Amino acid sequence: EKAGFDHFMLKEIYEQPKAYRDTMGSRIDATGKKVVLNEIGMTPEQIKAIRNVHIVACGTAYHAGLVGKSVIESLARIPVETDVASEYRYRSPIITPQTLVIVVSQSGETADTLAALREAKRNGARVLAITNVVGSSVAREADDVIVTWAGPEIAVASTKAYTSQLIAFYLFGLYLAQTLGTKDEAYIADVVSALQELPAKVEHILAQSETIKGVAEQVSTHNNLFFIGRGLDYHVVMEGSLKLKEISYIHSEAYAAGELKHGTLALIEEGIPVIALATQGDLFEKTVSNIKEVKARGAHVFGIHEEGEAELAKVVDQVFAIPATLPLLTPALSVVPLQLLSYYASLARGNDVDKPRNLAKSVTVE
Ligand code: M6R
Repeated sequence: EKAGFDHFMLKEIYEQPKAYRDTMGSRIDATGKKVVLNEIGMTPEQIKAIRNVHIVACGTAYHAGLVGKSVIESLARIPVETDVASEYRYRSPIITPQTLVIVVSQSGETADTLAALREAKRNGARVLAITNVVGSSVAREADDVIVTWAGPEIAVASTKAYTSQLIAFYLFGLYLAQTLGTKDEAYIADVVSALQELPAKVEHILAQSETIKGVAEQVSTHNNLFFIGRGLDYHVVMEGSLKLKEISYIHSEAYAAGELKHGTLALIEEGIPVIALATQGDLFEKTVSNIKEVKARGAHVFGIHEEGEAELAKVVDQVFAIPATLPLLTPALSVVPLQLLSYYASLARGNDVDKPRNLAKSVTVE
């Protein structure tokens, strides 16, 4: 049932191109220029009445929600807050009938996420669920559901569910933009066409997994490392760091690159690995100057950049290029090398990749 792969996690990483295609599926209209979300019951009037959005989730789904915030704010210009479900419930969030609450859960059974959904409904908000399990508790109780068609995810470490959640956010963000008129047709058509190119670009990254394996083997000999990035890259490195901790048991921290000098830089010492994501063109120079800060303190930097960007190779020790896409869509590509990195680091350490210690696939207790 692992279809020739050594672990479910690797199989699921390789299933991502299909998961992207299936999640987009019939949600892109025949002209390939706009999004159709027949499953959304909200009327255009109800969508126009939305004043704010709360995205609530746990773990990896929370990290997808951080990207979701940028996607919705940039496409639909509605203010969005993203919260960890176990915090959201207890901070008296300001939820009104004009709040759209989006809960994100692969399993649809996470206790804190389900409790947040109920709290949102008690306060009169409309709830949209993004879930991978049709008929799950979250799917049954939400007003609207976008199913991610990633297929069953068996490995405890979430991979294809996360990237399918990103696709769901792109589709929903575009749907809001179409309804609200915040972006014109040509812009929407460009994003839709870039979305459709993602699966082949993921395949291109997967074909270079040996390079990542080499880096992972070096990383696996360390007990501490850092991930840095800015903007969307920061949210992706948060996910990369969680994945590495979860299955390799190597301690790592993800930092917004510009925050380093406010404390963390003190931890950088000779030889410490730093994984730097620098895919966002408008932030590139800023990230490079943060990379120079850690290099000057002896860090060994592994940089990930977009193809065609020659600069990074001059300042870091090793580079890996991902295919170019629109800045908003890079998370759906840049997370893939980080997933492979965790997988191979866990493997090199001889861990049980699919069943990491102390963890369960579905967390149904608070
Ligand atoms: O089923 P859910 O998406 O609600 O699960 C949320 C988290 O428990 C989950 O993403 C967890 O963080 C993963 N094991 C991370 O790889």
